[in-house]
Amino acid sequence: MEKFRIEGPVVLKGSVEISGAKNAILPLMAASILMDTPVAFTFVPKVMDVFTMKELLERLGAHVEWTGNGTILIDPTTIDNPLAPYDIVKKMRASIYVLGPLLMKFGKAEVSLPGGCAFGPRPVNFHLEGLKKLGADIKLEHGYIKARLKKPRGAQIVFDKKSVGATIHLMMTASLIPEETILRNAALEPEVVQVANFLKRAGVKIYGEGTDTIVINGIKKLNQVEATKVIPDRIEAGTFAVAAYMTGGEVEIKNCIPEHISPTIEKLEESGADIVVDGERLVIKKRKGKIKPLFIYTQPFPGFPTDMQAQFMAMLSVADGTSTIKEGIYPDRFLHAFELIRLGADIKVEDGTAIINGVPRLTGAPVMASDLRASASLVLAGLIAEGTTIIDRIYHLDRGYEDFEHKLNSLGAKIERFHG
Ligand code: UD1
Repeated sequence: MEKFRIEGPVVLKGSVEISGAKNAILPLMAASILMDTPVAFTFVPKVMDVFTMKELLERLGAHVEWTGNGTILIDPTTIDNPLAPYDIVKKMRASIYVLGPLLMKFGKAEVSLPGGCAFGPRPVNFHLEGLKKLGADIKLEHGYIKARLKKPRGAQIVFDKKSVGATIHLMMTASLIPEETILRNAALEPEVVQVANFLKRAGVKIYGEGTDTIVINGIKKLNQVEATKVIPDRIEAGTFAVAAYMTGGEVEIKNCIPEHISPTIEKLEESGADIVVDGERLVIKKRKGKIKPLFIYTQPFPGFPTDMQAQFMAMLSVADGTSTIKEGIYPDRFLHAFELIRLGADIKVEDGTAIINGVPRLTGAPVMASDLRASASLVLAGLIAEGTTIIDRIYHLDRGYEDFEHKLNSLGAKIERFHG
């Protein structure tokens, strides 16, 4: 299995360019199923989840190819097998996105039921209840969601909780229903807006994306669209910003949309960071004082993202005082805390809350990554830990960060990938 060997401490310096957003391209690739013509996406990150979605679309029968650096071309017209098997869905929960589009195109679909994940249960009930309202008949059999389209119809769907996945999934599905669908308590994330914009360019009438009420007036057939550029990855940008600040470095972050990462910028500033925002770039200035402790409460966008919580925990483990992180999305998403403790951090986790007592320094140790963002937090901790940190199971990291170690090494990190 591949591992990272990280020598620390280092101070990051230089300039880094952010890749396209994994969480935007995955639903866009699934949305290609709705099209009757080939569709191209540019600025696509070469990360494992994108390769997995490519493989899934190919298993369905689509023709998918990389046609240039970061450009992917999908021809959905050859899709003939509306089945997403367990061996793919177990690798990537976002596979659920193909269910609604397949249903609309073929009148039936089978998608393996995604299981839980390292940070707890991750149900898909909002997806399934919403599809039922849009006219699907759904059965769960032998670990599979078996769906048939009885009579597609527009509907009003009120989510009990904001869900990025369910909002995007049902918006895509409703796009091919020529009636009005209203999604209430919808998610506001930038990835929802990007998918809405794509569908609008294909002729669907959508209003209210980026607010909690989205109205979709679907059409029978989507129009051909020009190549779509994927938005920059706000979590990758945030990860580099935290890395720069916690190592006491000075880093320019290019190709990011500052409004998409404003909760991260605000929390870093509250922690003492001096950040210059200039168009699509950020500069994290060299730190003058100590890292100040924070209170963080993860919430749906525009609140503080759960996907940045682990990276902040690594930083706050060496803050000058006690910090609190309360998880408002996934109460069990704290496995990284126990690995950070192996590096010398002082963290207690109870009832969906982590209390982090800042220590003067971390020290290198072997640790294990449990999920994507947890892996990133361990890498950041390894950058400041004294000595050698070995991180096992970095395949989690490869799911969502493009060239992570190369980008960090270009800023002065000492990270080596090895088989062990
Ligand atoms: C997406 C992101 C993930 C991020 C998460 C929360 C992608 C591919 N993944 O995941 O990186 O951590 O948003 O910002 O975009 N819920 C239900 N029933 C459902 C669906 C969700 O109860 O049917 C709950 C979840 O358990 C969670 C909350 O709703 O507590 C939000 O989850 P959701 O926004 O759906 O997460 P994902 O879209 O899976």
